[in-house]
Amino acid sequence: MAKDTTFTCTACNASFTKWSGRCDACEAWNTIEEVKPLSSGPKSKKSMGGLRGKQIDLTDLASEEKEPPRTLSGVGELDRTLGGGLVKASAILVGGDPGIGKSTLLLQAAARFARNGLKVLYISGEESASQVQMRARRLGLTESPVKLASETNLRDILTTLEAEKPDFVIIDSIQTMWLDTVEAAPGSVSQVRSAAHELTTFAKRNGIAIVMVGHVTKDGQIAGPRVVEHMVDTVLYFEGERGHQFRILRAVKNRFGPADEIGVFEMTGKGLAEVKNPSALFLSERGDPAPGSVVFSGIEGSRPVLCEFQALVSPSPTPQARRTVVGWDGSRLAMILAVLESRAGIPFTGLDVYLNVAGGLRVSEPAADLAVAAALVSAREDSAIPKECVVFGEISLSGALRPAPQTENRLKEASKLGFTSAITPVRAKRGGDSGVDLREFSDLHSFIEQIFGAQSPQ
Ligand code: TYD
Ligand code: MG
Repeated sequence: MAKDTTFTCTACNASFTKWSGRCDACEAWNTIEEVKPLSSGPKSKKSMGGLRGKQIDLTDLASEEKEPPRTLSGVGELDRTLGGGLVKASAILVGGDPGIGKSTLLLQAAARFARNGLKVLYISGEESASQVQMRARRLGLTESPVKLASETNLRDILTTLEAEKPDFVIIDSIQTMWLDTVEAAPGSVSQVRSAAHELTTFAKRNGIAIVMVGHVTKDGQIAGPRVVEHMVDTVLYFEGERGHQFRILRAVKNRFGPADEIGVFEMTGKGLAEVKNPSALFLSERGDPAPGSVVFSGIEGSRPVLCEFQALVSPSPTPQARRTVVGWDGSRLAMILAVLESRAGIPFTGLDVYLNVAGGLRVSEPAADLAVAAALVSAREDSAIPKECVVFGEISLSGALRPAPQTENRLKEASKLGFTSAITPVRAKRGGDSGVDLREFSDLHSFIEQIFGAQSPQ
């Protein structure tokens, strides 16, 4: 059992279970002091008197405080991802690959918020003021009242913020900032963490909304935004495929709104344009019905978004068959393949499997299981799913199909985009008429039998 008290040497920090006049470790005299533990279990009556902190005030769960005031940028996709606008006294992290468009997005946001009455400061540690001005010219924002600086010394930046008293500040990027109190290179874990801590505390104390940009590196993400995610109120990731013009701003954490909300943008020659109807965009490159192509009616945050799953299955030239996934979870794919083999008798041994979500969207919902299974079987059997049909539903390990949340919303969106039928799990309760023909199944086996005909395992 742990002792109630221990003794440490104030000179060398060595600890002992007994007091003595001389430290055995560093041989100093009269340096050993008693240290009382903070926690006091039922038996440690003695240590109770040793707690030196002051009593903290406790309060009830009910509070008088109203919702924090918010400012809208007017860019619907941005306001939505922020959880309904920018909150005062908050710290936001915007992460993403270098070159994905973070600086562009934030300069445009800065201009919008400035136009809506906020005092906005844009501080770049990566580019000179003239480079930012050039971008502003390209984006047509030179008239906007945003104040600009190129600086990396955080002490000077905070002093400036104290004097200027802005409402909204952009720090681009947190990896370039350095504190003279920390002996480490800019971009190192300790600098990034300390700089983020200083900025977050400053934001709270002074009622400023501060956005920190953080680059994510593909490998490891060391010293990247990950080390500051827990400090800030909101974490947004800006995602997209290099070759595509679509960009997705995703809230992965939000103390002031729903996480998992997304905003969809398109990178144009004049900056980022918001995409008001993402479903139409993600399906825009779809051609005639092809084997392996399935439309999934998903939910991203608070709204339905349709997208296309594409699968390709081909005989593997190597003994180790390939499993390649873009836009979905690799281990979930392995699970679906195992369930297809064990519960529906459709093996994928010796076959390479490629799965892709078209348009660069990343789907993480389990409701996509059935769409993935349909795409895989459709590719393997070389048999297309009808073009005007959407698929969604969760698959359990037993092969049973489970209804997806917000089924009505998914069906409504499908109907809005011209889809006339849907393949879904059986539901106990039906909602209103969505105008879509339902083909419901209770398990994977019956779904495959009826959609693709009787299968003969190869
Ligand atoms: P940038 O915002 O600098 O990326 P990040 O800050 O995430 O590193 O954007 C870089 C890319 O965006 C660059 O390759 C050029 C492109 N771009 C456009 O296509 N249109 C534009 O109007 C702007 C400003 C940039
Ligand atoms: Mg940048």
